[in-house]
Amino acid sequence: AMSLRGRDFIGLVDYAPEEIQYLIDLAIDLKRKQKAGEVYQPLKGKTLGMIFEKSSTRTRVSFEVGMYQLGGHALFLSKNDLQLGRGETIYDTAQTMSRYLDGIMIRTYAHRTVIDLARGATIPVINGLTDLSHPCQALADYQTVQEKKGRLQGLKVAYIGDGNNMVHSLMMGAAKLGIHFAVATPEGYEPDSEVLKLSREFAAQTGGSLYVGTDAKEAIADADVVYTDVWASMGFEAEQKEREIAFKNYQVNDELVKYAKKDYLFMHCLPAHRGEEVSESVIDGKNSVIFDQAENRLHAQKAVMAAIM
Ligand code: CP
Ligand code: NVA
Repeated sequence: AMSLRGRDFIGLVDYAPEEIQYLIDLAIDLKRKQKAGEVYQPLKGKTLGMIFEKSSTRTRVSFEVGMYQLGGHALFLSKNDLQLGRGETIYDTAQTMSRYLDGIMIRTYAHRTVIDLARGATIPVINGLTDLSHPCQALADYQTVQEKKGRLQGLKVAYIGDGNNMVHSLMMGAAKLGIHFAVATPEGYEPDSEVLKLSREFAAQTGGSLYVGTDAKEAIADADVVYTDVWASMGFEAEQKEREIAFKNYQVNDELVKYAKKDYLFMHCLPAHRGEEVSESVIDGKNSVIFDQAENRLHAQKAVMAAIM
Protein backbone atom coordinates (compact mmCIF):
# COMPACT_ATOMS: atom_id res chain seq x y z
CA ALA A 1 0.00 0.00 0.00
CA MET A 2 1.07 3.55 -0.65
CA SER A 3 2.21 5.62 2.32
CA LEU A 4 2.21 9.40 2.19
CA ARG A 5 2.40 9.75 5.99
CA GLY A 6 4.28 12.87 7.10
CA ARG A 7 4.35 14.51 3.68
CA ASP A 8 3.37 18.13 3.05
CA PHE A 9 0.73 18.90 0.41
CA ILE A 10 2.00 22.13 -1.09
CA GLY A 11 1.85 21.48 -4.80
CA LEU A 12 1.01 18.67 -7.21
CA VAL A 13 4.53 19.21 -8.55
CA ASP A 14 5.79 17.28 -5.49
CA TYR A 15 3.54 14.28 -6.10
CA ALA A 16 4.13 11.41 -8.53
CA PRO A 17 1.34 10.51 -10.96
CA GLU A 18 0.50 7.32 -9.04
CA GLU A 19 0.36 9.27 -5.76
CA ILE A 20 -2.12 11.76 -7.25
CA GLN A 21 -4.19 8.90 -8.66
CA TYR A 22 -4.09 7.20 -5.24
CA LEU A 23 -5.46 10.35 -3.56
CA ILE A 24 -8.24 10.65 -6.16
CA ASP A 25 -9.23 7.01 -5.69
CA LEU A 26 -9.10 7.41 -1.90
CA ALA A 27 -11.32 10.52 -2.18
CA ILE A 28 -13.86 8.54 -4.19
CA ASP A 29 -13.79 5.76 -1.60
CA LEU A 30 -14.19 8.17 1.34
CA LYS A 31 -17.10 9.80 -0.50
CA ARG A 32 -18.77 6.41 -0.90
CA LYS A 33 -18.19 5.61 2.79
CA GLN A 34 -19.69 8.93 3.89
CA LYS A 35 -22.76 8.53 1.65
CA ALA A 36 -23.27 5.01 3.00
CA GLY A 37 -23.15 6.32 6.56
CA GLU A 38 -19.98 4.37 7.37
CA VAL A 39 -18.00 5.93 10.18
CA TYR A 40 -14.30 6.26 9.34
CA GLN A 41 -12.24 8.09 11.95
CA PRO A 42 -8.51 7.54 11.43
CA LEU A 43 -7.73 11.03 12.80
CA LYS A 44 -9.37 10.60 16.22
CA GLY A 45 -7.65 12.87 18.73
CA LYS A 46 -5.82 14.86 16.03
CA THR A 47 -6.11 18.58 15.40
CA LEU A 48 -5.66 20.64 12.24
CA GLY A 49 -4.85 24.37 12.49
CA MET A 50 -6.24 26.43 9.61
CA ILE A 51 -4.51 29.78 9.02
CA PHE A 52 -6.44 32.16 6.78
CA GLU A 53 -4.94 35.36 5.38
CA LYS A 54 -7.64 35.59 2.67
CA SER A 55 -11.40 35.00 2.59
CA SER A 56 -12.90 31.57 2.08
CA THR A 57 -16.24 29.78 1.94
CA ARG A 58 -15.47 26.33 0.53
CA THR A 59 -11.97 25.77 1.87
CA ARG A 60 -12.79 26.75 5.42
CA VAL A 61 -16.01 24.77 5.66
CA SER A 62 -14.79 21.67 3.83
CA PHE A 63 -11.60 21.37 5.88
CA GLU A 64 -13.43 21.87 9.16
CA VAL A 65 -16.21 19.42 8.31
CA GLY A 66 -13.71 16.97 6.81
CA MET A 67 -11.59 16.94 9.93
CA TYR A 68 -14.70 16.40 12.07
CA GLN A 69 -15.84 13.49 9.92
CA LEU A 70 -12.39 11.89 10.20
CA GLY A 71 -12.71 11.99 13.98
CA GLY A 72 -10.45 14.99 14.53
CA HIS A 73 -10.84 18.68 15.28
CA ALA A 74 -10.08 21.82 13.26
CA LEU A 75 -9.18 25.29 14.51
CA PHE A 76 -9.92 28.41 12.47
CA LEU A 77 -7.05 30.88 12.85
CA SER A 78 -7.35 34.23 11.15
CA LYS A 79 -3.95 35.77 10.51
CA ASN A 80 -4.95 39.03 12.16
CA ASP A 81 -5.82 37.25 15.38
CA LEU A 82 -2.50 35.42 15.49
CA GLN A 83 0.74 37.04 16.65
CA LEU A 84 1.83 36.36 13.05
CA GLY A 85 -0.24 39.43 12.16
CA ARG A 86 1.88 41.49 14.58
CA GLY A 87 5.19 40.36 13.21
CA GLU A 88 5.97 37.04 14.92
CA THR A 89 8.05 35.10 12.43
CA ILE A 90 6.79 32.23 10.32
CA TYR A 91 9.51 30.05 11.84
CA ASP A 92 8.48 30.71 15.44
CA THR A 93 4.83 30.26 14.50
CA ALA A 94 5.62 26.96 12.76
CA GLN A 95 7.67 25.62 15.66
CA THR A 96 5.09 26.62 18.25
CA MET A 97 2.15 25.21 16.32
CA SER A 98 4.02 21.95 15.81
CA ARG A 99 3.94 21.43 19.60
CA TYR A 100 0.12 21.52 19.65
CA LEU A 101 -1.18 20.42 16.29
CA ASP A 102 -0.97 17.43 13.95
CA GLY A 103 -1.24 19.42 10.73
CA ILE A 104 -1.54 22.98 9.43
CA MET A 105 -3.57 24.22 6.49
CA ILE A 106 -2.70 27.74 5.31
CA ARG A 107 -4.27 30.13 2.80
CA THR A 108 -1.99 33.06 2.06
CA TYR A 109 -0.60 35.43 -0.60
CA ALA A 110 3.08 34.62 -1.17
CA HIS A 111 3.76 30.97 -1.97
CA ARG A 112 7.06 31.43 -0.12
CA THR A 113 5.11 31.73 3.14
CA VAL A 114 3.82 28.16 2.79
CA ILE A 115 7.27 26.84 1.92
CA ASP A 116 8.76 28.62 4.94
CA LEU A 117 5.98 27.37 7.21
CA ALA A 118 6.62 23.81 6.07
CA ARG A 119 10.38 24.22 6.61
CA GLY A 120 9.83 25.47 10.14
CA ALA A 121 7.14 22.94 11.05
CA THR A 122 7.62 19.34 12.13
CA ILE A 123 4.05 18.42 11.10
CA PRO A 124 2.47 18.24 7.61
CA VAL A 125 1.53 21.54 5.94
CA ILE A 126 -1.29 21.81 3.41
CA ASN A 127 -1.57 24.62 0.85
CA GLY A 128 -5.11 26.00 0.98
CA LEU A 129 -4.34 28.48 -1.85
CA THR A 130 -1.54 30.93 -2.55
CA ASP A 131 -1.04 33.46 -5.35
CA LEU A 132 0.84 30.67 -7.16
CA SER A 133 -1.32 27.59 -6.72
CA HIS A 134 -4.43 25.86 -5.41
CA PRO A 135 -3.67 22.13 -5.38
CA CYS A 136 -6.62 21.05 -3.17
CA GLN A 137 -9.01 22.50 -5.73
CA ALA A 138 -7.25 20.82 -8.66
CA LEU A 139 -7.28 17.46 -6.86
CA ALA A 140 -11.03 17.76 -6.19
CA ASP A 141 -11.55 18.84 -9.80
CA TYR A 142 -9.77 15.83 -11.30
CA GLN A 143 -11.74 13.61 -8.91
CA THR A 144 -14.88 15.22 -10.38
CA VAL A 145 -13.71 14.67 -13.95
CA GLN A 146 -12.88 11.03 -13.22
CA GLU A 147 -16.34 10.50 -11.70
CA LYS A 148 -18.11 12.12 -14.64
CA LYS A 149 -15.98 10.80 -17.52
CA GLY A 150 -14.76 7.51 -16.06
CA ARG A 151 -11.14 8.32 -16.86
CA LEU A 152 -8.55 11.08 -16.98
CA GLN A 153 -5.75 9.98 -19.31
CA GLY A 154 -6.19 11.28 -22.84
CA LEU A 155 -8.99 13.77 -22.08
CA LYS A 156 -8.72 17.41 -23.17
CA VAL A 157 -9.13 20.18 -20.58
CA ALA A 158 -9.37 23.78 -21.79
CA TYR A 159 -8.85 26.74 -19.48
CA ILE A 160 -9.98 30.17 -20.65
CA GLY A 161 -9.08 33.29 -18.69
CA ASP A 162 -6.47 34.55 -16.26
CA GLY A 163 -3.09 32.81 -15.93
CA ASN A 164 -3.54 32.49 -12.18
CA ASN A 165 -3.12 30.06 -9.25
CA MET A 166 -6.00 27.92 -10.52
CA VAL A 167 -4.60 27.35 -13.99
CA HIS A 168 -1.19 26.56 -12.52
CA SER A 169 -2.51 23.70 -10.39
CA LEU A 170 -4.84 22.40 -13.10
CA MET A 171 -2.02 22.46 -15.65
CA MET A 172 0.43 20.70 -13.35
CA GLY A 173 -2.21 18.08 -12.46
CA ALA A 174 -3.01 17.53 -16.14
CA ALA A 175 0.66 17.08 -16.97
CA LYS A 176 1.04 14.49 -14.20
CA LEU A 177 -2.12 12.61 -15.22
CA GLY A 178 -1.59 12.43 -18.98
CA ILE A 179 -4.31 14.94 -19.81
CA HIS A 180 -4.16 17.27 -22.84
CA PHE A 181 -4.30 20.80 -21.49
CA ALA A 182 -4.99 23.97 -23.47
CA VAL A 183 -4.89 27.50 -22.07
CA ALA A 184 -6.04 30.74 -23.67
CA THR A 185 -5.31 34.03 -21.89
CA PRO A 186 -5.10 37.62 -23.07
CA GLU A 187 -1.59 38.85 -23.78
CA GLY A 188 0.15 39.84 -20.57
CA TYR A 189 -1.88 37.40 -18.43
CA GLU A 190 -0.06 34.17 -19.31
CA PRO A 191 0.60 31.44 -16.72
CA ASP A 192 3.90 31.50 -14.84
CA SER A 193 6.80 30.49 -17.11
CA GLU A 194 8.39 28.13 -14.57
CA VAL A 195 5.11 26.25 -14.06
CA LEU A 196 4.71 26.04 -17.84
CA LYS A 197 8.20 24.66 -18.26
CA LEU A 198 7.77 21.99 -15.57
CA SER A 199 4.31 21.05 -16.86
CA ARG A 200 5.73 20.58 -20.37
CA GLU A 201 8.40 18.26 -18.99
CA PHE A 202 5.91 16.13 -17.03
CA ALA A 203 3.43 16.04 -19.91
CA ALA A 204 6.16 14.63 -22.14
CA GLN A 205 6.57 11.73 -19.68
CA THR A 206 2.88 10.91 -19.22
CA GLY A 207 1.51 11.29 -22.74
CA GLY A 208 -0.21 14.57 -21.96
CA SER A 209 0.32 17.78 -23.91
CA LEU A 210 0.18 21.51 -23.39
CA TYR A 211 -1.12 24.28 -25.67
CA VAL A 212 -0.73 27.88 -24.57
CA GLY A 213 -2.01 30.81 -26.61
CA THR A 214 -4.37 33.74 -26.85
CA ASP A 215 -7.05 32.14 -29.04
CA ALA A 216 -9.98 30.95 -26.89
CA LYS A 217 -11.63 29.11 -29.82
CA GLU A 218 -8.49 27.19 -30.59
CA ALA A 219 -7.99 26.25 -26.93
CA ILE A 220 -11.57 25.09 -26.46
CA ALA A 221 -11.80 23.08 -29.69
CA ASP A 222 -13.03 19.54 -28.94
CA ALA A 223 -12.48 19.96 -25.21
CA ASP A 224 -13.95 17.43 -22.75
CA VAL A 225 -13.72 19.98 -19.95
CA VAL A 226 -14.05 23.78 -20.12
CA TYR A 227 -12.72 25.61 -17.07
CA THR A 228 -12.62 29.26 -16.14
CA ASP A 229 -11.99 31.38 -13.05
CA VAL A 230 -12.42 35.00 -12.02
CA TRP A 231 -10.52 37.67 -13.95
CA ALA A 232 -9.28 39.38 -10.78
CA SER A 233 -8.20 36.99 -8.03
CA MET A 234 -7.99 37.81 -4.34
CA GLY A 235 -5.31 40.46 -3.94
CA PHE A 236 -5.87 41.83 -7.47
CA GLU A 237 -9.17 43.61 -6.82
CA ALA A 238 -7.64 47.00 -7.65
CA GLU A 239 -7.10 45.80 -11.25
CA GLN A 240 -10.77 44.80 -11.72
CA LYS A 241 -11.62 47.58 -14.20
CA GLU A 242 -8.57 47.20 -16.45
CA ARG A 243 -8.99 43.44 -16.38
CA GLU A 244 -12.63 43.65 -17.48
CA ILE A 245 -11.33 45.37 -20.62
CA ALA A 246 -8.40 43.01 -21.22
CA PHE A 247 -10.57 39.89 -20.77
CA LYS A 248 -13.75 40.99 -22.58
CA ASN A 249 -13.25 38.48 -25.42
CA TYR A 250 -12.57 35.62 -23.02
CA GLN A 251 -16.02 35.03 -21.59
CA VAL A 252 -17.12 31.38 -21.60
CA ASN A 253 -20.57 31.68 -23.20
CA ASP A 254 -22.91 29.79 -25.54
CA GLU A 255 -21.04 31.02 -28.60
CA LEU A 256 -17.66 29.78 -27.34
CA VAL A 257 -18.75 26.40 -25.93
CA LYS A 258 -20.08 25.41 -29.38
CA TYR A 259 -16.47 24.56 -30.17
CA ALA A 260 -16.14 22.13 -27.26
CA LYS A 261 -17.33 18.50 -27.35
CA LYS A 262 -21.10 18.19 -27.07
CA ASP A 263 -20.86 16.47 -23.68
CA TYR A 264 -18.23 18.85 -22.28
CA LEU A 265 -18.18 19.58 -18.55
CA PHE A 266 -18.23 23.21 -17.47
CA MET A 267 -16.07 23.75 -14.39
CA HIS A 268 -15.30 26.70 -12.13
CA CYS A 269 -13.61 26.61 -8.71
CA LEU A 270 -16.00 29.30 -7.39
CA PRO A 271 -16.66 31.94 -6.28
CA ALA A 272 -17.79 33.09 -9.74
CA HIS A 273 -18.56 36.50 -11.17
CA ARG A 274 -21.61 35.52 -13.19
CA GLY A 275 -21.84 37.46 -16.44
CA GLU A 276 -18.11 38.22 -16.44
CA GLU A 277 -15.85 35.21 -17.01
CA VAL A 278 -18.87 32.97 -17.66
CA SER A 279 -22.41 33.63 -18.88
CA GLU A 280 -25.35 32.66 -16.68
CA SER A 281 -26.50 30.29 -19.43
CA VAL A 282 -23.29 28.27 -19.24
CA ILE A 283 -22.69 28.25 -15.47
CA ASP A 284 -26.33 27.27 -14.83
CA GLY A 285 -26.55 25.04 -17.89
CA LYS A 286 -26.84 21.25 -18.04
CA ASN A 287 -23.09 20.75 -18.59
CA SER A 288 -22.12 22.62 -15.43
CA VAL A 289 -20.71 20.56 -12.55
CA ILE A 290 -19.67 23.43 -10.28
CA PHE A 291 -21.38 22.15 -7.14
CA ASP A 292 -20.00 18.63 -7.60
CA GLN A 293 -16.59 20.27 -7.65
CA ALA A 294 -17.40 22.19 -4.49
CA GLU A 295 -18.62 19.00 -2.79
CA ASN A 296 -15.52 17.10 -3.80
CA ARG A 297 -13.33 19.59 -1.94
CA LEU A 298 -14.58 17.80 1.17
CA HIS A 299 -13.76 14.31 -0.06
CA ALA A 300 -10.45 15.16 -1.73
CA GLN A 301 -9.17 17.01 1.33
CA LYS A 302 -10.27 14.20 3.61
CA ALA A 303 -8.16 11.91 1.42
CA VAL A 304 -5.17 14.25 1.73
CA MET A 305 -5.54 14.57 5.52
CA ALA A 306 -6.12 10.85 6.07
CA ALA A 307 -3.07 10.06 3.96
CA ILE A 308 -0.52 12.52 5.31
CA MET A 309 -1.55 13.23 8.92
N1 CP B 1 -12.68 27.43 -4.48
C1 CP B 1 -12.31 27.90 -3.26
O1 CP B 1 -11.21 27.68 -2.79
O2 CP B 1 -13.29 28.60 -2.61
P1 CP B 1 -13.18 29.45 -1.27
O3 CP B 1 -12.36 30.69 -1.61
O4 CP B 1 -14.59 29.77 -0.92
O5 CP B 1 -12.47 28.64 -0.24
N1 NVA C 1 -8.15 32.50 -8.48
C1 NVA C 1 -9.05 32.70 -7.37
C2 NVA C 1 -9.45 31.37 -6.79
C3 NVA C 1 -10.36 31.45 -5.60
C4 NVA C 1 -10.70 30.11 -5.02
C5 NVA C 1 -8.40 33.59 -6.32
O1 NVA C 1 -7.23 33.37 -6.03
O2 NVA C 1 -9.07 34.49 -5.84
